[in-house]
Amino acid sequence: MYKLDQTKTPLLDALMEYVNNNTVPFHVPGHKKGQGMWNEFKNFVGTNVLSMDVTVFKQVDSLHKPTGVIKAAQELAADAYNTDYTFFSIHGTSGAIQAMVMSVVGPGEKIIIPRNVHKSVTAGIILSGASPVYMQPEIDHTVGVALNVTPETVENALEDNPDAKAVLIVNPTYYGVSTDIEKIVNIVHRYNIPLIVDEAHGPHLHFNSRLPISAVDAGADICSQSTHKIIGSMTQSSLLHVRKGFVDVNRVKTVLSLLQTTSPSYILLASLDAARKQMVIDGKELLDKTIDLADYARKSINSIEGYYCFGEEVLGKKGAYAFDPTKVTITCKDLGLSGYELERILAEKYYIQPEMSDLYNVLCVFSLGDTKESVDKLINALKEISDVQCCSLRRKLEIIDVPDIPEQILTPRDAFNSMTVSVPLSDSMGQISAEFLMAYPPGIPILCPGEMITKDIIDYVKALKEANLYVQGTEDPEVNHIKVVSDLNIFNINE
Ligand SMILES: Cc1ncc(COP(=O)(O)O)c(C=O)c1O
Repeated sequence: MYKLDQTKTPLLDALMEYVNNNTVPFHVPGHKKGQGMWNEFKNFVGTNVLSMDVTVFKQVDSLHKPTGVIKAAQELAADAYNTDYTFFSIHGTSGAIQAMVMSVVGPGEKIIIPRNVHKSVTAGIILSGASPVYMQPEIDHTVGVALNVTPETVENALEDNPDAKAVLIVNPTYYGVSTDIEKIVNIVHRYNIPLIVDEAHGPHLHFNSRLPISAVDAGADICSQSTHKIIGSMTQSSLLHVRKGFVDVNRVKTVLSLLQTTSPSYILLASLDAARKQMVIDGKELLDKTIDLADYARKSINSIEGYYCFGEEVLGKKGAYAFDPTKVTITCKDLGLSGYELERILAEKYYIQPEMSDLYNVLCVFSLGDTKESVDKLINALKEISDVQCCSLRRKLEIIDVPDIPEQILTPRDAFNSMTVSVPLSDSMGQISAEFLMAYPPGIPILCPGEMITKDIIDYVKALKEANLYVQGTEDPEVNHIKVVSDLNIFNINE
């Protein structure tokens, strides 16, 4: 149970007090509670939100050196999530991930990561100068998406790299698929190193036992969650949790302070305070309702011709140990539409905006704000689209197996900082890439900065293009040219 009084919202209360006292603002921001602001904007957003848009002073505390209400709000969050320390991030999980990576690895040190990480992990690796060792995630060949990494993959990566300083996993994936994280924690801790978890898609997990286990509950050492993505805080606001033991918490504080703005938005910070209270007080019930609605949507959509919405049956597959039912992935290849086309029709004809789409799927995120009416709108729109469209041109699911991970010659940081030149991809064999190259599906990089371009990769890209699959990542949108490192001599590497 909780040690602190979870009904309190110290930061939100301080801001409300500041607003209710009609405090005269001789401080930034210059719009002064909206009075100095363009009316059209002010009238649209409303006055309270502008009145609580303040800067650092004693009453509202400082994010960089919290001693008052922010400290109290962070402690309440740590208590709610049953962790040792929690920090607020107003740079989303992206900023928190950069801080996590920089807290545990330095220049040249190895960090083991899945090949298909979010770009913020790569940013953290570039900033820290660390050397990534990649693990290939499993692939779901029915719907064409990457699943998770298995404990065996982590174990093998550590056996091959016993000098690694940390392991990072993404759990759950965007599509709601979790790995056996408890097993992975045990494996990683046998090597006396921390497990970092990108839990962008898991701020709700701790509050309902029908969901996969959360990283903190599984014993992970440091994780970040996009509170704004699934529970009730505002966009850009995330939490970073740390458990004592394998991570130096003072280093985490220093790095966070290095990366975050000195003018954090108190609106975002206060929304984290309120979201934490909401989850503790009503989280279980609200999530029960959300899960029931998502299950209802999944069942209804599966009864419409042309769609498939995967559920718990995914758990038979490698890399899928637990499933978050609030993620509704609508596979529409049998309808004869791509995911991109279905998303466009939903948005433009029905004013229903999904979270994202890929070649074969549209992903709808279910959360506390959904209602039976909004879900029925989605189901009815999907029915209408199926009636009109079905199923003249069923799409064949094509996923070409990803080639072997090429040799890493430079760290991503050295590749990022090097001089580059653009060359035709067809002539680039043996050169060192300064760019990413991604294949969709399943969204796994074929090439990362610092890696040697091989004939297999050039042939693979040609095959993808011939199969009308998506390749992207290079500055050249057609992927006919690729930027390669041109000043190899400064790295003592012979061309
Ligand atoms: C797996 C993963 N990690 C990290 C992030 C970054 O999160 P944020 O948008 O909170 O910066 C995302 C964003 O979509 C994500 O999908």
